[in-house]
Amino acid sequence: MEVLSSISDIKRILSEHRIKGKSIGFVPTMGALHLGHISLVKRAVSESDIVVVSIFVNPTQFNDKSDLKNYPRTPELDLKLLEKSGVHYIYMPSELEIYPEPDTRVFDFGQLDKVMEGEHRPGHFNGVAQVVSKLFDIVEPNRAYFGQKDFQQLAIIRQMVIMLKLKVEIISCPIVRESDGLAMSSRNLLLETAVRESAPLIYRTLSEARNKVKELSVKELIHWVVTNINNDTHLTVEYFTLVDCLTLQPILNWPDSESIIGCIAVRAGKIRLIDNVFFN
Ligand code: PAJ
Repeated sequence: MEVLSSISDIKRILSEHRIKGKSIGFVPTMGALHLGHISLVKRAVSESDIVVVSIFVNPTQFNDKSDLKNYPRTPELDLKLLEKSGVHYIYMPSELEIYPEPDTRVFDFGQLDKVMEGEHRPGHFNGVAQVVSKLFDIVEPNRAYFGQKDFQQLAIIRQMVIMLKLKVEIISCPIVRESDGLAMSSRNLLLETAVRESAPLIYRTLSEARNKVKELSVKELIHWVVTNINNDTHLTVEYFTLVDCLTLQPILNWPDSESIIGCIAVRAGKIRLIDNVFFN
């Protein structure tokens, strides 16, 4: 496992592998790694000859300055965790390396980023697309791995790949959870003890909601989920919405879509958590 920080080094090394016909798998991350990230790395290792993980806390995707400042950074622990994963290269660039000058590109994702995270975190997905397109340009991977935990991000990246006519194959990986059901997240490290104890209610509620599709209308089910979670003093639902998996547009009635996903954002104390479950 080799740690690299300059664009020229990583480009040179990867082009040598490419000439030898090796396939390159890529897992972009912002560090503070957990077993969710590692599941992506393991999948990449199982499918690609050479695996690159990037660790870069991307400032352009944070619409809230204090969120960027407080975002957990655990580089030594990250490298320790990655050592046993089979990854070949860790790319840890500086901010100047990625943004030698401000990135002024504006992506048009149509309706995809007008809902959910896009609506509540203005500019977030534009920043994600800026950094991921730059990283794809540097690594030129055959495959790149993303988690379903950030379901809307996956849809945005797929759309970006189409818009920029990139050759990379996007692989979607299932959500990894703690034993109590809470979706693993770097931000879980920031939860105060009492709030952490409440947080599993999010997935418990979503799982129970899945069994209520036959008895409740879409509107009633949304109301039930929001009320059930808001009953806990530490949790406040920012949004819960049932959307079509491909268009991400909200559904009004169950027959409106053949593949429905329920997406939620919850304020847990000072921390914002997201999660989702499939409904059919
Ligand atoms: P980050 O939050 O570090 O996540 C990196 C990748 O790990 C993303 O694809 C995310 O969906 C996946 N991931 C996170 N938690 C997961 C879990 N519990 N189970 C499965 N996969 C999980 O997402 C980002 O960073 C950034 O936006 C990035 C794409 C790196 C661009 O800056």
